[in-house]
Amino acid sequence: TDRPYEIETFISAKQIAARVETLAAEITEHFAGTDKLVVIGLLRGSFVFIADLIREIHLPCEVDFLEASSYGNETTSSREVRILKDLRGNIGGRDVLVVEDIVDTGHTISKIMEMLRARGPRKIACCAMLDKPSRREVDVKADWCGFSIPDEFVIGYGLDFAQSHRNLPYIGTVKFLDDKK
Ligand code: PRP
Ligand code: MG
Ligand code: MN
Repeated sequence: TDRPYEIETFISAKQIAARVETLAAEITEHFAGTDKLVVIGLLRGSFVFIADLIREIHLPCEVDFLEASSYGNETTSSREVRILKDLRGNIGGRDVLVVEDIVDTGHTISKIMEMLRARGPRKIACCAMLDKPSRREVDVKADWCGFSIPDEFVIGYGLDFAQSHRNLPYIGTVKFLDDKK
C-alpha cells in the first residue's frame, strides 16, 4: 500500500527485554532437567524473539526453524497451513519449544502444533510474544505469551508490514494518516 502512515511506540524495547527475561525463566523451570531442548522458530516473524529468548534460557538447547504459509478458503473460512521449509532435525522423543511472534486467528499455531505433536516429541510447548485474543478463530492458547494486545496493526521486533520494519527494536503500531481526523 502507498497510504502514508506513522509508527507509534506500543511496547518499548525495555518492556520487551523485561518480559523476555521472565518468560525465559519460566521456560527454563518448565524444561529443567532436559537432556537437550529443541527450540523451533516459525519463520519469518519469530526470528528476533527467538534470538533474545534463547539467550535467557539456561538449558542445553538446539535451534531449528520451520516456515509455514496459510491459505484462506473463502467458502468455508477455514485455512490450510502448508510447510514451505521443514525442520532440519527430528523431534521424536525430544523436548520441544515452539516460538511464535504472534497468535492472531490461531490457525498457524494450532496446525503447526498438531503437525509437530504427530512426530512424537517427549514434551512440547509453545511461547508467543504477542496474543490477539479478540481475533481468535480457533480455540488455541500459547503456553506462554509475552503480551496480550487489542486488535492493533503491530510491527517491529520481527513483525512486518509488507515485509518491512521487522528490524524495529520495539513493537509499534501503524497509524494511517487518512484514518485520523
Ligand atoms: C504471521 C505471524 C504468525 C501468523 C499468525 O505470519 O507471524 O506466524 O501470521 O496468524 P494466525 O494466528 O492468524 O495464523 P505471516 O504468515 O505473516 O508470515 P511471517 O511470519 O513471515 O511474517
Ligand atoms: Mg509468522
Ligand atoms: Mn507477516
